[in-house]
Amino acid sequence: MFDVEKVRQDFPMLNGKMMHGHPLIYLDNGATTLKPQVVIDSICDYLSHYSGNAHRGDYDLSHEVDEQFEDARKTIAAFIHAQRPEEIVFTSGSTDSLNMIAYGYGHTHLSAGDEILLTVAEHASNTLPWFDVAEEVGAIIRYIELDEEGRLTLENVQKAITDHTKIIAIAEVTNVLGFHAPMKEICAYAHERGIKVIVDGAQSVPHQVTNVQESDVDFLAFSGHKMCGPTGIGVLYGKYDLLCEMKPTRLGGGSNSRYNSCGVVTLKNPPYKFEAGTPNIEGAIGLGAAVRYLSQLGMENIHAYERELRDYCLTKMKTLDNVEIYNEQSHGAIAFNLKGVFSQDGASLFNTYGIAIRAGQHCAKILDEFLNVSTTLRASFYFYNTKEEIDQFIEVCKKGDDFLDAFFG
Ligand code: ALA
Repeated sequence: MFDVEKVRQDFPMLNGKMMHGHPLIYLDNGATTLKPQVVIDSICDYLSHYSGNAHRGDYDLSHEVDEQFEDARKTIAAFIHAQRPEEIVFTSGSTDSLNMIAYGYGHTHLSAGDEILLTVAEHASNTLPWFDVAEEVGAIIRYIELDEEGRLTLENVQKAITDHTKIIAIAEVTNVLGFHAPMKEICAYAHERGIKVIVDGAQSVPHQVTNVQESDVDFLAFSGHKMCGPTGIGVLYGKYDLLCEMKPTRLGGGSNSRYNSCGVVTLKNPPYKFEAGTPNIEGAIGLGAAVRYLSQLGMENIHAYERELRDYCLTKMKTLDNVEIYNEQSHGAIAFNLKGVFSQDGASLFNTYGIAIRAGQHCAKILDEFLNVSTTLRASFYFYNTKEEIDQFIEVCKKGDDFLDAFFG
């Protein structure tokens, strides 16, 4: 296990950043994460010392960029246990990756009457592109029922599948309820029926070991900024043969090997056919550095420590009469409300004590159909949070009991 106090030294924002006169307590890691100095340095190094373009030059500087850029791809491929680096496509984030899959694979592989299975707990990025694609091709969206806690079970997946099901698009860990889907079992069952499984890994890849060969997911989307990397960079993983079948949704320089004036275009092989235009080079290099940093800490260690933190927090929250918790059984973020306090007001209260948590619908706008509450607060942890921070968070939860006094008292 790592030494959390030592780890915190790696993050400039955990060393001196104040909010309302209090040291920042950052509990909005589901939205984005803080950046360690090694990631910041890797980006500065590229921008300061070798900021040429990738895959376009025949001079030393360009080769240096190519090497670093492709090295990041290899590092990420090893991190998720992909079979080969060519299965890693750089995108701008999970949203971009999921849109590319929906329009580039879903659109060309679905026909009228085919069914796409989602859940009401999905993020908008794994819902809206499917709504649009379904409307365009005449496919049908159906929802896999969640169990009474909000979990996605294999049994409910089995019940939802029909002879028309072609695609299951689900989060490995949902961004509000935080339940972990039994991905390996779902994929095994789906694949026996020729169904493709598309996974939103935005809230899972940063927090646990990811092994795409073991789970056998067909596609996986995740974002760099939720795992200590920069914003504007993400990954689309796809099994290589599926990437070969998939159509790029953007065309341009770098993605083709030749074309002629009659419009005959020869695209490059994956991943390059999906990476038209100058890529986010510093983003990819920064994400490579983030992945190396996380790997050094160990994803098993990160996962175990976060579970310990969550259990510690939950045990304390459960003793408070003024707190309503919506996902006690999960292992992800804690979705809750302070009783009688509108969630946005609750987040403002935490803010006055230097604590950053998210309020609202968290981009999962049909989850209220399950939760029966329109908005929630969400506290989401990462490996640099501490029990002392949670103690302070709990003290502010208590103040919510007398909301106006806490604010103005
Ligand atoms: N998708 C991010 C979240 O869940 C922004 O907060």
